[in-house]
Amino acid sequence: MTRKRVENASAYLPESRSLNSLRVAAQSCEACDLYRNATQAVLGAGPVSAKLVFIGEQPGNDEDLQGLPFVGPAGKLLDRALADAAIDRSEVYLTNVVKHFKFEERGKRRIHKKPNTVEVNACQPWLEAEILLIKPKMIVCLGATAAQSILGRTYRLTKERGTFREHPWAACATAMIHPSAILRAPDAEERHRQYEEFVADLKQIKNKLKQCSRAAASSGRSRA
Ligand code: URA
Ligand code: SF4
Repeated sequence: MTRKRVENASAYLPESRSLNSLRVAAQSCEACDLYRNATQAVLGAGPVSAKLVFIGEQPGNDEDLQGLPFVGPAGKLLDRALADAAIDRSEVYLTNVVKHFKFEERGKRRIHKKPNTVEVNACQPWLEAEILLIKPKMIVCLGATAAQSILGRTYRLTKERGTFREHPWAACATAMIHPSAILRAPDAEERHRQYEEFVADLKQIKNKLKQCSRAAASSGRSRA
């Protein structure tokens, strides 16, 4: 049977929604070509009660193999930074705008390739379904791919980093650099500087979260 191609993943969403049913259903998604070469679809990880959701770009090599987001080098850096900012990783939800790993083979290595707009748009229903279950107080985009898909094509991280706005998915939305950008810094000094800034951004997010929670509660957006 040849299945009809759809332009986004909404036709693949399960009727009964839970984080687990989404994860299972996403394994059958063929809404764009990325399912063809990836090992599996990687959905988010963390509790459905999370107030804070971090949204990255797509799973990397380690995430693709393990089936979990942010478990590779960028994830380890994010873990360390969350700990340094006194944010409990077990209370946040980590996910990505695109659920299958896009890569180019170079010898034995699989090199990350940036997802294009068609792929990002095709995948959006999975992310939206995750967010609608969690109803977070704040969403934090990591890097330009997530920021532009969620906060708008004109969003510029360099200009708007550290600012917060309302979003249909959460009382507060913001963006910060992607942890993998820190890993690509040209030297140790620059890496250290960027890391310190990254932790400072996380601390600001932690403080702001209290206000966002209050804003969400008074606008009736909070979870029952
Ligand atoms: N980079 C991302 O954007 N997401 C992951 O899950 C891992 C690395
Ligand atoms: Fe479906 Fe997203 Fe995978 Fe594309 S990347 S096949 S839209 S789950």
